Amino acid sequence: MKKIVCNTYEDVCRFAADIFAQQIKDKPDSILGLATGSTPIGLYNELIRRSEAGEIDFSAARTFNLDEYFPIKASHPQSYKSFMEKHLFSKVKFANTRIFNGEAANPHAECAAYDAEIEAAGGIDLQLLGIGVNGHIAFIEPDTSYPLGSYLVNLAEDTLEANSRFFTDGEEQPVTALSTGLSTIFRARHLIMLVSGTNKVEIIKKLFEGMIHTDIPASLLHLHPNVTVIMDKAANGE
Ligand code: PGA
Repeated sequence: MKKIVCNTYEDVCRFAADIFAQQIKDKPDSILGLATGSTPIGLYNELIRRSEAGEIDFSAARTFNLDEYFPIKASHPQSYKSFMEKHLFSKVKFANTRIFNGEAANPHAECAAYDAEIEAAGGIDLQLLGIGVNGHIAFIEPDTSYPLGSYLVNLAEDTLEANSRFFTDGEEQPVTALSTGLSTIFRARHLIMLVSGTNKVEIIKKLFEGMIHTDIPASLLHLHPNVTVIMDKAANGE
């Protein structure tokens, strides 16, 4: 696991955008794994800027998102489908974009279909990740055992708390979600995790103390051969 510390959040976003640009240059029809949350927004803004400037062409690339609340209507302002439309897909053209269907009649069938589509695409080339304050990646919440494939997750209390800021009064916050499983994440050829802000200092310290904790999903990534964690000084406690 490689650790990159940048001066500012903007530097983190530029560093990550360079990795995306190189990936698309090397393989225009890349399969990209995308993430939601506040951290990737600056990266998406930078990718939009570079795409509009003609510096990157995503039109042959396909995307799969890590997770989605369940159940949630696609049109709900807090669905990850809405998030991605707002922050990236309305401004950058991809060959195809795919997010878990938060309205699926059968969430387990949706998970199986999702995994099969990623498998058929040949797996993820470049996977973007964030990290939760509790060490979750995607919506793989701390536990003692984990399904390999995508699954319906009960969201942890600290995740619900952290994400409640996005839901305005009267908007019901889903307590379950569909999440990519560890096998998809581990089969991704390159993983980049973006981390920003002082609220991540404790989990970053724990992540880099040189141990695998089974109840910290992000620490399992030490077993993956190609992970780059890109953080600002604030997240590194500087
Ligand atoms: P954040 O979320 O970017 O909003 O901090 C990260 C995560 O929970 O994975």
